[in-house]
Amino acid sequence: MSSVRLLVVGGGNMGGALVRGLLAAGWAPDALAVAETDAGRRRALEALVPGVAVGAAPVAADGAVVAVKPQVAEPACRALANAAVPRWLSIMAGVPLARLEAWAGPAVAVVRAMPNTPALVGAGITAVAPGTRAGEAELAWAAEVLGAVGEVVRVTEEDLDAVTAVSGSGPAYVFLLAEAMAEAGEAAGLEPELARRLARSTVAGAGRLLAGPEADPRALRAQVTSPGGTTEAAVGAFEEGGLRALVATAVQAAAARSRALANEGP
Ligand SMILES: NC(=O)c1ccc[n+]([C@@H]2O[C@H](COP(=O)([O-])OP(=O)(O)OC[C@H]3O[C@@H](n4cnc5c(N)ncnc54)[C@H](OP(=O)(O)O)[C@@H]3O)[C@@H](O)[C@H]2O)c1
Repeated sequence: MSSVRLLVVGGGNMGGALVRGLLAAGWAPDALAVAETDAGRRRALEALVPGVAVGAAPVAADGAVVAVKPQVAEPACRALANAAVPRWLSIMAGVPLARLEAWAGPAVAVVRAMPNTPALVGAGITAVAPGTRAGEAELAWAAEVLGAVGEVVRVTEEDLDAVTAVSGSGPAYVFLLAEAMAEAGEAAGLEPELARRLARSTVAGAGRLLAGPEADPRALRAQVTSPGGTTEAAVGAFEEGGLRALVATAVQAAAARSRALANEGP
């Protein structure tokens, strides 16, 4: 056992959010460490998360989260393999478990995860998939770590392309809807600033309604759709225009791109 419980490799957006989430969840600062190659980012992190050891290189720890960009996966993982860290949790998009396990070596258990950006505000959802040497204990560990920034679900690696296409890229689909609503409001005669504010606040508020534990989008939609009313007119136009088929096409495109990226390699 090392004195550092968790090393986060890459203190950027996701790595930094994870450290803040873990501290908020009650982890002691001295149980955490960050390896970050960018000196400016290191200084910013030191100010943001006092008490957490921030250095340029990996240190020994009970486990590590790999949160660097996929393009630098190999050097970051090779450096990590030189530190004594028995379990890795990678959040890098498109880097397969087989490649991670090859870099890690036979003594390391690897879990691969796909988070999404609402993790930055503690409202993420992350799917985790076990590598060949990861069992129940490693999955529980991964869920504990990622649970600090939102919900966690378990999948197998073959599902990760579809997960990426639904929840990984999904926040952008909702932002696109907010953009389109603002543009439509402007076209309907509203001041641009007002249209943007109405659209943004509506999407954010609807998201909060959906965040309830038993929330069901279909039931929530039914609640605001009275027969012969305005919402029904709009929903009818969406259905006739093929919104569902379009969303399916978009999700398939994202999943296909995720598969292709994994084959291209970082
Ligand atoms: N954002 C999302 O929605 C999302 C969703 C799912 C998965 N992910 C994954 O999350 C990962 C992190 O994304 P991010 O947006 O947090 O990236 P980011 O902000 O660029 O953070 C990565 C940080 O790691 C540093 N770094 C580079 N090489 C390193 C090394 N060898 N050792 C230690 N630190 C190193 C980078 O420094 P430099 O800038 O100098 O390179 C940067 O500060 C990515 O792999 C991405 O695929 C993101």
